Amino acid sequence: MTRSVITGTGHAVPERVVTNDELSGLMDTSDEWIRARTGIQQRHWIRDGETGVGLAAEASRQALAAAGLQPADLDAIVFATSTPDHFAPGNGVFLQRALGITATIPAIDIRMQCAGFVYALSVADAWVRTGMFRRMLVVGEEIQSTRMDVSTAGRHTAVIFADGAGAVVLEATDADGRGILAFDLHSQGQHAERLWAEGPGAVDPLSRWPERIAEGRCWLQMDGREVFRHAVSRMPESVRAVLLRAGAEQSDVRLLIAHQANLRISEAIQKELGLSEGQVFNNIQRFGNTTAATIPIALDECVRGGRLAGGDLVVLTAFGSGFVWGSCALRW
Ligand SMILES: CC(C)(COP(=O)(O)OP(=O)(O)OC[C@H]1O[C@@H](n2cnc3c(N)ncnc32)[C@H](O)[C@@H]1OP(=O)(O)O)[C@@H](O)C(=O)NCCC(=O)NCCS
Repeated sequence: MTRSVITGTGHAVPERVVTNDELSGLMDTSDEWIRARTGIQQRHWIRDGETGVGLAAEASRQALAAAGLQPADLDAIVFATSTPDHFAPGNGVFLQRALGITATIPAIDIRMQCAGFVYALSVADAWVRTGMFRRMLVVGEEIQSTRMDVSTAGRHTAVIFADGAGAVVLEATDADGRGILAFDLHSQGQHAERLWAEGPGAVDPLSRWPERIAEGRCWLQMDGREVFRHAVSRMPESVRAVLLRAGAEQSDVRLLIAHQANLRISEAIQKELGLSEGQVFNNIQRFGNTTAATIPIALDECVRGGRLAGGDLVVLTAFGSGFVWGSCALRW
């Protein structure tokens, strides 16, 4: 049976490190508050001139090198971001150009916020299984720093979100056992406004926006408590569902990479699932919440850190704005 397997990983973050102390100079917050409530110690934000596609291209080059491939070897690009560099077209085609790919391969964008990378993997995996494509780049990238209110009014989101990109090469394999085993995907639009960026969207003329921007309606808005409550139940529920679909047990899990929303959320998931610390990887302390990029960044760190061996069962799980959530089980 043809399956898809990850053959290379990479990640890139902006050079600029923003510490909690630096944020304390911009808004009424403190290193102590941020560490205690989110686990975050620092994050990376872009400087003027840096782009999401630039970060994605760097992560992609690393992933391609790890897979022993050239950009010209790719059949398709699947790009997950909720913060594209431009309103249109999406980041996928800009990445195609940045990588110097002249073949007219499809480059699609997926907008599923924090669950974007898991959804992007599911699309790429389906393309492999149906025989449409055999070698793809799957990217999760986000620039949140330019879309947040960095005054005290925005402190509940500004201390959490950050910028970064991660990429994987996904290839078809006919070898038994390895590769992506199962997905579990959900969304629940009733909660769309609990974590959202209202606009400027296409629903209203842009002429109305200067006034709305002055009212702060352009910024990322979050009902932190509700997001927390749903995240800590939906991710464990989804992990159980994907393991069932993959025919695996929780005790088989070598590594769980949960979307890096908040360290307290990750710890709650670990506890709910009865996993040991060694079975779960967290890096939110150093990167903050990079939305669609958290999982591929974490996966790349695990791969380069030697945390994965052939045959290991890995589970990826994510939850975010939408609400959307989902999980992927794969055999490394
Ligand atoms: C955002 C979050 C950390 C806030 O923690 P909390 O314990 O719920 O805190 P509350 O929102 O109740 O706020 C408690 C107080 O801290 C204040 N506060 C909020 N952000 C603050 C900050 N950065 N620094 C200092 N104080 C802050 C609030 O204004 C509030 O003050 P008040 O009691 O005087 O009104 C928490 O709700 C959370 O982690 N939610 C999930 C967020 C998340 O993961 N989002 C990404 C999902 S993809």
